[in-house]
Amino acid sequence: MPINLRGKSLLSVGEWTTDEVNYVLQLSKQLKDQKRTGSNQRILLGTAGTKSIVVIMQKDSTRTRSAFETAAFDLGMNVSYIGPTGSQIGKKESIADTARVLSRFYDGIAFRGSAHSDVVELSENSLVPVWNGLTDKWHPTQMFADYLTIYEHFGRTNVKFAFFGDAKNNMGNSLMVMAAHMGAEFWAVAPKKYWPSREIVDIAKKIAKVTGASINMTEDPKVGANNADVVYTDVWVSMGEPDEVWEERLRDLKPYQINSQIMGQTSKNSIFLHCLPAFHNTDTKVGAEIAAKYKVKEMEVTDEVFESTKSKVFDEAENRAHTIKAIMLATLGY
Ligand code: CP
Ligand code: NVA
Repeated sequence: MPINLRGKSLLSVGEWTTDEVNYVLQLSKQLKDQKRTGSNQRILLGTAGTKSIVVIMQKDSTRTRSAFETAAFDLGMNVSYIGPTGSQIGKKESIADTARVLSRFYDGIAFRGSAHSDVVELSENSLVPVWNGLTDKWHPTQMFADYLTIYEHFGRTNVKFAFFGDAKNNMGNSLMVMAAHMGAEFWAVAPKKYWPSREIVDIAKKIAKVTGASINMTEDPKVGANNADVVYTDVWVSMGEPDEVWEERLRDLKPYQINSQIMGQTSKNSIFLHCLPAFHNTDTKVGAEIAAKYKVKEMEVTDEVFESTKSKVFDEAENRAHTIKAIMLATLGY
């Protein structure tokens, strides 16, 4: 069946079909090849006049913002950036009214915020596709980059995938549902209180039933690491969470740190992935503050693993741009 994503928003990968997800992954690969060989065209230029997108970031971003902007430039589109301050959104104007205004100006809206209900409200009131650039619940655009990286390394996506750490957050949630689409053997490896909620597990299991994926959870790092193909982790404290949670997270999640002992139990050809930014040393303001306060010099991943040949985090980061380009191109109807 031909895939037509024109006009569709991307709020979470659970709302897309497995065929739609695979179509965009395939398109990402083509666009990456074209960019590499210099044969990429500014496809959207001249088709219906110059197109424009707006990137609204209510939380900080390096990769997601840059990916939307550079991908849009490659496609011949103009971009406006609206940061956490400087617009009326949420202060003098509701999300719904903002959507009704901006979707008359722009052809697509990328949005990063806190409550997932905000991006839902935006899309419900928008005339154009809305792309979720991260909320507290989901981070769907990241999923395409992660699985493009996995496909490039293994030539397949039905790998054993182990996510260590804060598995109840946007990354743990999204990776579990994406693994279901990809036919993977997914493991959330964390203390029980960090496991994804029943609602998220149900979404993943429903998809897994069709694709043959399996959705598993364990508190035992050895079970998760054993013969894993992909070891993934994320920061232990996410954007917007209060500083007070650091102490508890460091205590609870230390056994789930990705270090050479964990990597030693994985498959021969295994890789390490992280959405970034990562606390693998103390060369950042927050990293240095936490190090001074709690006497730790590495957190969710050791510097040794981060810098090892198994670490594909910068290939993964690059893939944000190729995959976001594919998401925009498909949903803008080209
Ligand atoms: N991985 C990711 O979303 O990075 P940014 O926060 O820099 O966008
Ligand atoms: N869980 C992290 C992901 C960052 C890309 C956060 O929300 O801060």
